[in-house]
Amino acid sequence: MSIIRKVQITAFGDESKLAIVESDLPDPKPREVQLAVDLSIVSGSDVNMRRGTYPFQRKAPLTPGYTVLGRVLLNGKGASTFRVGERVVCLSKYEGQAERINLPERFLARVPDGIDLKAAVALPLDWVTAYQMLHRAAKIKSGQTIFIHGLSGGVGGSLLQLAKLQGAEVFGTASPSKHDELSRRGATSFDYKSKDWISIMQQRGGADAVFDPLGYESFDQSFSILRKGGILVAYGMNLPAVTKTARRPALPVILKLLARNLFFWTGKRTTFYGLTRNSKHFKPDLEQLFALLQSGSISVPIKATFKLDEIQQAHREYASSAGTGSIILEIGS
Ligand SMILES: NC(=O)c1ccc[n+]([C@@H]2O[C@H](COP(=O)([O-])OP(=O)(O)OC[C@H]3O[C@@H](n4cnc5c(N)ncnc54)[C@H](OP(=O)(O)O)[C@@H]3O)[C@@H](O)[C@H]2O)c1
Repeated sequence: MSIIRKVQITAFGDESKLAIVESDLPDPKPREVQLAVDLSIVSGSDVNMRRGTYPFQRKAPLTPGYTVLGRVLLNGKGASTFRVGERVVCLSKYEGQAERINLPERFLARVPDGIDLKAAVALPLDWVTAYQMLHRAAKIKSGQTIFIHGLSGGVGGSLLQLAKLQGAEVFGTASPSKHDELSRRGATSFDYKSKDWISIMQQRGGADAVFDPLGYESFDQSFSILRKGGILVAYGMNLPAVTKTARRPALPVILKLLARNLFFWTGKRTTFYGLTRNSKHFKPDLEQLFALLQSGSISVPIKATFKLDEIQQAHREYASSAGTGSIILEIGS
């Protein structure tokens, strides 16, 4: 048993509901590994968990932390894959924003030598999500046209790089201050505050795939720019969080999204993508991303880095429109 410091969402609400608390951590159970956490990330999922709007989430008080990178401290009974001191990453979903965490050994992945650690901790959530949506859900091929909401975001920015690698033509939305940078990265950007992109994309003949984390009316708008044979890959209900508006029921919106598949004669499809570490594809896809990072084929933009004690500021930064990429939380050395 050890005593650790960790982030706690004490109750659902604004950034003031985030605290650092002390807590007991038991020794790892059989086939679990205890990690000393070096880095975690702060993502849209954490912000939704703080607001109490993340699908099927735990009740408060809870500790978020969707991804961890850490060193092996203790192997539970029967766990022998990793040596003490080895660096690993894991999709943890909860309890990652803590000094230590116990995780099932089978979900850990070794961090290859020489990899930038901040880049490595962004891969399991933002990049595996983007990789699987692009290659497994939409199966994008060279020359196809795609539209990405939030090109400047953690997942959106990863989608942009992976889609360019694949040879796709990329359009999407972002704040105007980021359009020049996104243009250098190969995307044509539109301001999400104006809806010009709808008519412009329709006039261009539409998109083969649209990636939408916003939900609600955005799903209807995204569907309207699909060309025949195209797919809408929905993956979040982030609109109330980014517009700081009240929560709204999600289920009817998701049912409507999926019911669109009944109208097969439109030639358009929809799906709601969900990342899970239980998928047989999770580890191979993560390893593929490590290989792309090692070869320099991708680079991981980091929007900001915060210390554990700065967790409230990290959540405020999420809502600000400065910078692009993932937000890192530094916990250990
Ligand atoms: N289904 C899954 O498996 C899965 C996996 C990962 C993430 N997610 C979900 O994906 C969502 C995005 O997560 P993330 O961490 O990638 O977020 P993020 O990096 O913070 O991105 C947020 C984006 O929203 C944009 N934005 C801000 N205000 C907006 C507005 N009014 N309208 C439209 N866009 C606006 C921002 O653009 P600017 O910065 O340019 O202003 C930014 O690009 C979250 O809901 C998360 O839960 C789902």
